[in-house]
Amino acid sequence: KKKLPLVNQTILVTAGPTYEAIDPVRFIGNHSSGKMGFAIADQLAAMGADVILVAGPTSQSTKHKSIKRVDVTSAAEMLDACLLYYKDANACVMCAAVADYTPASVSPQKIKKKEGSLNIELKKTTDILKTLGEKKQTGQVLAGFALETENEEYNAAEKLKSKNLDFIVLNSLNDKGAGFKTDTNKITIIDSNLQKTTFGLKSKDEVAADICNKVAQLINEKN
Ligand code: C5P
Repeated sequence: KKKLPLVNQTILVTAGPTYEAIDPVRFIGNHSSGKMGFAIADQLAAMGADVILVAGPTSQSTKHKSIKRVDVTSAAEMLDACLLYYKDANACVMCAAVADYTPASVSPQKIKKKEGSLNIELKKTTDILKTLGEKKQTGQVLAGFALETENEEYNAAEKLKSKNLDFIVLNSLNDKGAGFKTDTNKITIIDSNLQKTTFGLKSKDEVAADICNKVAQLINEKN
């Protein structure tokens, strides 16, 4: 019987959107379904890894009971959870669609409707992936996603460099069948040598397998 490729490897995965509270009933969110990240977590577990899945608000569930799931709501909570588990992780795959901005303050009461327009001041959130990239240890593998609408490969390569990643998964909203709520995806993987591999339109489970194989390959190469 062949040994599973990721036995004894701890892998941190983020998935889903974040919700940034405006007041007790409202938030700023996005269209991420969490499907891609959950498919990756399941695939990594099937390959033998110990998976920690930090998930924003989603209706997804994992197939593998061994996955340790940590539910969070906001970008700040996701950052804290990632920092907690990163030190012991051999690899991280960051799929979450983290809010870039969050309300500068949360109103303690529901904001009342009034005449005229309403302004909500926003402040930048911490870039979780970039923070982990700055702390990356020898042998750790760090992967991120880029969802682009223009200059896709250029922007993805810039993110790869600025966040100190080992590879980035590019999915384009211009590709039919790719993106947020679909069950399929079409990706290009760009690695730290700027080597590009483009895959065909596949189910998110098959895409997850391609991504996880790349993780396993890089863990082998770096260790
Ligand atoms: O810079 P951009 O948000 O396009 O980068 C996307 C990648 O960075 C994704 O892997 C996403 O999970 C990660 N990210 C993060 N924390 C943020 C913003 C993005 O981890 N605050």
